[in-house]
Amino acid sequence: MNVSMPATIENPEKKTQPDKDMTAAVVSVDNVCKSFGNMKVLDGVSLSISHGETLAVLGRSGTGKSVLLRLIIGLVNPDSGSISVNGNNFAGLALDQLGEIRKKMGFLFQQSALYDSLSIAENVAFPLEHHRSSMSKAEHDERVKQLLDEVGMNGDSTKMPSEISGGMKKRVGLARALALEPEILLLDEPTAGLDPISSDEIDDLVLKLQRERKMASIIVTHDLHSARKISNRIALLNKGKVVIEGSFDNLQQSEIAFVKEFLRLS
Ligand SMILES: Nc1ncnc2c1ncn2[C@@H]1O[C@H](COP(=O)(O)OP(=O)(O)OP(=O)(O)O)[C@@H](O)[C@H]1O
Ligand SMILES: [Mg+2]
Repeated sequence: MNVSMPATIENPEKKTQPDKDMTAAVVSVDNVCKSFGNMKVLDGVSLSISHGETLAVLGRSGTGKSVLLRLIIGLVNPDSGSISVNGNNFAGLALDQLGEIRKKMGFLFQQSALYDSLSIAENVAFPLEHHRSSMSKAEHDERVKQLLDEVGMNGDSTKMPSEISGGMKKRVGLARALALEPEILLLDEPTAGLDPISSDEIDDLVLKLQRERKMASIIVTHDLHSARKISNRIALLNKGKVVIEGSFDNLQQSEIAFVKEFLRLS
């Protein structure tokens, strides 16, 4: 069953609410379907987010959450339906236009995806070197230092990815995602595999970044507690569809069997 909720339902507990004058959709996913071979992964998914808003996408393993994020950054094309960023429909864009839009997005991959042969500082500098070539080396270094400070990793800037923990990799991945000052932040399982204290620290970091930068964020997670803490809205995916979208309270009040079961087991 597919329950549509108004896109404006928000969690009243959240301190960070979208600015009233910035409610236009930044990312809009409209009736998107995606199959791999015979397997239909997404079956008519529609979602949208505005400036300053954080949407948490929850769902069981293999339900298409990472595929959804990859569609939103244009790494995968939908079979049908459309994806727009700031009103630009991906379908009509040339590669260089898509590249321009992608620069507005910061992306943290599920496995952090740091470059093994580059130090922590070099990983964070990478997007700057490729997309901010007008900045001097000293400006890059200063910016990397600020970013690593922001995620609490400045003391480790000369280490290699193999020398740091999973939680530290997530922090560095987050710093790299923020390097080009994105309008849109997409995080794929930022707390997966971390102990509860490290998870909570990452959640606090994400909340701090939202307060300071007012990005539109989509955060994929298995963790209901984390989703409740850091998002304005939650979308729960199952079998390729959005089963419910709304505040945590909306989920708790739902009579949908899958929602009840998901909450019971979370
Ligand atoms: N490039 C691809 N080619 C073929 N199948 C794919 C591809 N990408 C994803 N899939 C399949 O699509 C389904 C959804 O994958 P996805 O990675 O989005 O799941 P997920 O919800 O992110 O799961 P998890 O919570 O475990 O990360 C899986 O069955 C996966 O095997
Ligand atoms: Mg995934």
